[in-house]
Amino acid sequence: MRVIQWVSAIVAITTTFAAADDLKLYLDPTQPVEVRVENLLKRMTLEEKVSIIHADSKFTTPAIPRLGIPRRWLSDGPNGVREDVGPDNWKPAGRTDDFSTWLPAPICLAASWDPDLATAYGTVIGQEAVKRGKEIMLGPSVNIQRTPLCGRNFEYLGEDPFLTSRIAVGFIRGEQSQGISSCVKHFAANNQETDRFSVNVEMDDRTLREIYLPAFKAAVQQGGVLVVMGAYNKFRGQHCTENDFLINHILKGNWGFQGLVVSDWAAAADTTEAALNGLDLEMGTDKPYDNYYLAKPYLDGLKSGKYPMATIDDKVRRNLRVMFLTHAFDPPTDTGSINTPAHQATARRVAEEGIVLLKNDHDTLPLDAGKIGSLAIIGENAVTEFAHGGGSAAIKSFYEITPLAGIVRRAGGKMNVVFSMGYSHDHPSPDLADRAVKAVAQVDAVIIVAGLNHSKYLDTEGSDRKDLSLPYGQDELIRRVVKANPKTIVVMISGAAVDMNAWLDQTPAIVQAWYPGMEGGNALAAILFGDVNPSGKLPATFPKRLADSPAHALGNFPGIFGTEHYQEGVLVGYRWFDTKQIEPLFPFGHGLSYTQFAYSNLKLAPATNGPLLTVQCDIANTGRRDGAEIVQLYVHPEKSSVARPDKELKGFAKVFLKSGQKKTVAISLRADAFAFYDMTKGGWLSEAGDYSILVGASSRDIRLRDKWTLPQTIFAEEK
Ligand code: BGC
Repeated sequence: MRVIQWVSAIVAITTTFAAADDLKLYLDPTQPVEVRVENLLKRMTLEEKVSIIHADSKFTTPAIPRLGIPRRWLSDGPNGVREDVGPDNWKPAGRTDDFSTWLPAPICLAASWDPDLATAYGTVIGQEAVKRGKEIMLGPSVNIQRTPLCGRNFEYLGEDPFLTSRIAVGFIRGEQSQGISSCVKHFAANNQETDRFSVNVEMDDRTLREIYLPAFKAAVQQGGVLVVMGAYNKFRGQHCTENDFLINHILKGNWGFQGLVVSDWAAAADTTEAALNGLDLEMGTDKPYDNYYLAKPYLDGLKSGKYPMATIDDKVRRNLRVMFLTHAFDPPTDTGSINTPAHQATARRVAEEGIVLLKNDHDTLPLDAGKIGSLAIIGENAVTEFAHGGGSAAIKSFYEITPLAGIVRRAGGKMNVVFSMGYSHDHPSPDLADRAVKAVAQVDAVIIVAGLNHSKYLDTEGSDRKDLSLPYGQDELIRRVVKANPKTIVVMISGAAVDMNAWLDQTPAIVQAWYPGMEGGNALAAILFGDVNPSGKLPATFPKRLADSPAHALGNFPGIFGTEHYQEGVLVGYRWFDTKQIEPLFPFGHGLSYTQFAYSNLKLAPATNGPLLTVQCDIANTGRRDGAEIVQLYVHPEKSSVARPDKELKGFAKVFLKSGQKKTVAISLRADAFAFYDMTKGGWLSEAGDYSILVGASSRDIRLRDKWTLPQTIFAEEK
């Protein structure tokens, strides 16, 4: 019976394919994707196959008009659709229709701890990509913040694999819901910009699986991401873009990824490795397009029998699959939208939810607009526009509300606002600081907008910071201003931690504003004046000193003789600070509110199927303002056969509560919440025994705890 079914199925498929020759089934949107892929693949000549797996301009792949294969457009990036460049260089194309919404930097999105907001964020980019005619959007960027110095930290999602995964999955779901494909990047272990094209990264399998891969795995398996970008750096001696272990073994093998792997721009380096190790699309190589590694040299190798034909068919299948899944051949059903009021509102909301109140002594904030007669704004960053900087994440923004513009708009005619630069990145002069100090002496409140920018060696692609210090004499400026007027609030514009020791103790209020997007000034003003209650929390530890950070404490950054040894292993970020009991400046997960939250009534309830355990507690807003709290759940193993981090984030929930309101929060844990990667067994081991379940407002502010026993050891293979 079985055999008959099989035979008739094969006959049916053969008939379908026979008919397909005439019917061009691949053009029929009602056909299953795999039928369309096979139907088109077999019509293509070898030359045509090779032609679509590499670029024909900076951001396109060629069309094949004979078959109706359209030209594909790729575009950066992680916080909006980038301005068009090229075609054959990085110069702006000079168009007037390539503006887009500039969303807050991804680190700000991560600081919102809100996966649904990440979906809204991805949706905005997706809609704008459709409008701009882009099929593959190069984001989200999910590399883990291993050092606060990495120039691209502003573009990444922080130091924790669990938080990064949740935000990335939300982002991808939103973006891909618009019928285009996201491209999660940079796979993998691309954690520094110094020597980024050549540095070789070495770490053990456990560190790789527990810290640096989870966000990619979640992007593939939970987010359904269609494209993965290989990184520039090497991993265990082989370029990541052509890395057999990472791409063939883990991504396509273990995780079953069916989409395509694109090189980072000019990351391909060798035809044989590109041919055999899983690279499906080569972009950005600095050679004539016909001489790309996956162009003529590959074609010649295929013809001579050096490379199996199966390799090209696999690459083309993956490219076609992504094209069919994103409806590249089908009549457009949606033309997208750009810079709508809804997009602007999302940009603003992400900033309002991602800005973090780090310190607020004596309720310095919020400012009471009814009581303040005069206000001084100090700092070049109050008037700097940031959208167009940082490298491939740069945006030609429709507009940008600077902090000064936002504050002035909010303050209206109600108070006297003075502005003084205080410092300048290109005309350093002590005179600027002197004038600022004079300006603050007589006013009711002072806001210094300080921090970094997208210049080389600050928050930018292509270089890392040299240390944590604030540039342009800002420490001295802040110290003097705070001394002249103790009612000074510092607003920090930066993608990661800066050294605050010179003025931290004397400064009553500090706000971490990241790069808050084109509505940033409005969002910031809403927080400073209390129209919005801050709810963001740090997605990365802010250390007191650089030497406290793991990679630096061990003298491992930025590598020795071209190799970077990740000797800190899994102890990245708070995992290091907590395990080694080093006091940070501000811990992972920290962020204040204008109201207070009380935690009570922790209950651990074993679940019978699905999740193992449900953790439940009550959160009450005991203050006078409405606000949102991010409840964090960490797991601490009481005993383990291997050294483990003191605790790890395994769940969180963002809950909005009106003043006086109380809600019950429930977070489920599955077996993997207790697991570590067992290198001898090659899988995830959740060892039987006692665990502490810690629930709190930050990694260092645990409010509730209880013990739980995992009755039996559970092993899960990596897949
Ligand atoms: C960056 C990628 C980016 C690509 C295209 C590279 O230099 O590393 O993130 O997508 O350029 O602009």
